[in-house]
Amino acid sequence: MSYPYQVKSAEAYKQAWEQSVADPEAFWAEVAAHFIWQQKWDKVLEWNFEAPDVKWFVGGKLNISENCLDRHLEAGGDKAAIIWEPNDPKGKSRTITYKELYEQVCRFANVLKNNGVRKGDRVCIYMGMVPELAIALLACARVGAIHSVIFGGFSAKSIADRLQDAQAQFIITADGAYRGAKEIPLKGVIDDALEQCPFVKKVIVLLHTKTPVSMIKGRDVWWQDELEKAGVDCVAELMDAEDPLFILYTSGSTGKPKGVVHSCGGYMVYATYSFVNVFQYQPGDLFFCTADVGWITGHSYIVYGPLCAGATVLMFEGIPTWPDAGRFWDIVDKYKVNILYTAPTAIRSLMAYGTEPIAGHDLGSLKVLGSVGEPINEEAWHWFDKNIGKGKCPIVDTWWQTETGGIMISNLAGVTPAKPSYATLPLPGIQPMLVDEKGEEIEGNDVSGNLCIKFPWPSIIRTTYGDHERCRTTYFTAYPGTYFTGDGCYRDAEGNYRITGRVDDVLNVSGHRIGTAEVENAINMHEGVVESAVVGYPHDLKGQGIYAYVVYGNTHGDDELTRQDILQTVSRIIGPIAKPDKIQFVKGLPKTRSGKIMRRILRKIAEGDMQNLGDTTTLLDPQVVEDIKEGKV
Ligand code: PRX
Repeated sequence: MSYPYQVKSAEAYKQAWEQSVADPEAFWAEVAAHFIWQQKWDKVLEWNFEAPDVKWFVGGKLNISENCLDRHLEAGGDKAAIIWEPNDPKGKSRTITYKELYEQVCRFANVLKNNGVRKGDRVCIYMGMVPELAIALLACARVGAIHSVIFGGFSAKSIADRLQDAQAQFIITADGAYRGAKEIPLKGVIDDALEQCPFVKKVIVLLHTKTPVSMIKGRDVWWQDELEKAGVDCVAELMDAEDPLFILYTSGSTGKPKGVVHSCGGYMVYATYSFVNVFQYQPGDLFFCTADVGWITGHSYIVYGPLCAGATVLMFEGIPTWPDAGRFWDIVDKYKVNILYTAPTAIRSLMAYGTEPIAGHDLGSLKVLGSVGEPINEEAWHWFDKNIGKGKCPIVDTWWQTETGGIMISNLAGVTPAKPSYATLPLPGIQPMLVDEKGEEIEGNDVSGNLCIKFPWPSIIRTTYGDHERCRTTYFTAYPGTYFTGDGCYRDAEGNYRITGRVDDVLNVSGHRIGTAEVENAINMHEGVVESAVVGYPHDLKGQGIYAYVVYGNTHGDDELTRQDILQTVSRIIGPIAKPDKIQFVKGLPKTRSGKIMRRILRKIAEGDMQNLGDTTTLLDPQVVEDIKEGKV
């Protein structure tokens, strides 16, 4: 497969970006022409950011699974699509060719149909990192069902909330998942969630870990048994370019996660375009993205982008530090990985083990390294560059979001220059702008502001499921006429962008997005808690840690035990990923006379910066601050 839209020089990048701004419709029509459409679009773009209402490739008909599978069969059917490395290094790896993947997706699509799944139905997927997860996504896409993948680290309650929000009647899961030394009882968690979701009609369960599970007659069926009954041919459903492809829940500044909706046509074009350009993928390269498919990175850069591009992806079931901190490097050498895309939190946690786990590894196959999910600090950047890339692999620092569907700001590997801790330049088609507090655009260079995007790109969020108003108010009202990212940003003298972190109440913990309000809600559900305030603080490994100030009335005299109890509650309500790193019991929270919690002060104290708390005289009770300073944990 060739990529006529791959930009191969800095000059070509500049030209492409300028063309994409001068005539976005012509630019994207040219890119989209390299995909399989059952019916060509009538109009490339219709948009306004007020409603908001964005439509790309209006009237076009396609199925993304045909673009990921069918079109590669003739020339590349025997080529590996997915190479899978199991959690257990002694376990059997699997290689699935495009032809095999096509057959398995078609069969599983028939399983979905046999179990009553129809176009437009919502299907929740809760699985570990096994090839069947990719098969499940693609099979949903093939029958036109809207998938909603939920990360394995979320609790039964979080799953139930998402199932209710999406009114998902179908679930695809597994008996269990392996993650390092742990075994996660996925089906058991689903069973707990389903106690609150009587509308769920079918649960399809993959046999994987052989963990004993309860199977309810009439509702629960085994993946493997259903396959036996399914036919092999499955004509792909004809989808409108603007039909939803998937929902992915993500945290914001309110307590309730929102279901970000992506469409079939625009998402396909942009995920693929960005994959091919940012990583400079060449046919035959092996691409290893270490993200979980439970997050947007896995959707766009394990499944849809690479497979549309006919690439070979490596999918890894386990974690970087098990059985030891050399696991990634074992995998790179074992399969001769060419492109490694990972997260700063993984890099930092491996850094902490020193270079010994790298010794004895060749790593010579690597050509390109990538980072995603949070700002990468310079120390981690240089460590990655020196020890893994051996100074010869370009590192792409890719800034984007669940809502953007694909990479927005990044250098292009080996084509445009990298700058440590900078995402650098916008991809062709992306028009970033910085705005000040008043919403005025900040022109020129060497400036900081809030990052907005002023023109639509094909994979922009279309709506938040079931609540379009929420989409409007969250992203399109802060700075009318633009999409607001929620991130702060600095543009240097050369025009390179450096993301400085969220400016809203969203934390980024180990690359996972967590809303402070969500964590507070969970803590407040704990018996005895009067109120709480959660802020982020710098954490060496996780990027940000979670610091919770808790007003707790009903102590049984054992603070440490109460802390553990509160952690249990947060685990139950949200999931282990949202557990605070620090809990400080306080008598009261610093509030203004109107009752607003002064988070700025709490953030400073959590950071250990006691000197610059600013003006505390407007507080209802300034003494509260002194008490909190004294009790800092
Ligand atoms: O704050 C930015 C940070 O992660 C947020 C998006 O999180 P999520 O939707 O979970 O998607 C993560 C994977 C795309 C952004 O608002 N972020 C993501 N990538 C970077 C980043 N911050 C700095 N540099 C990055 N490369």
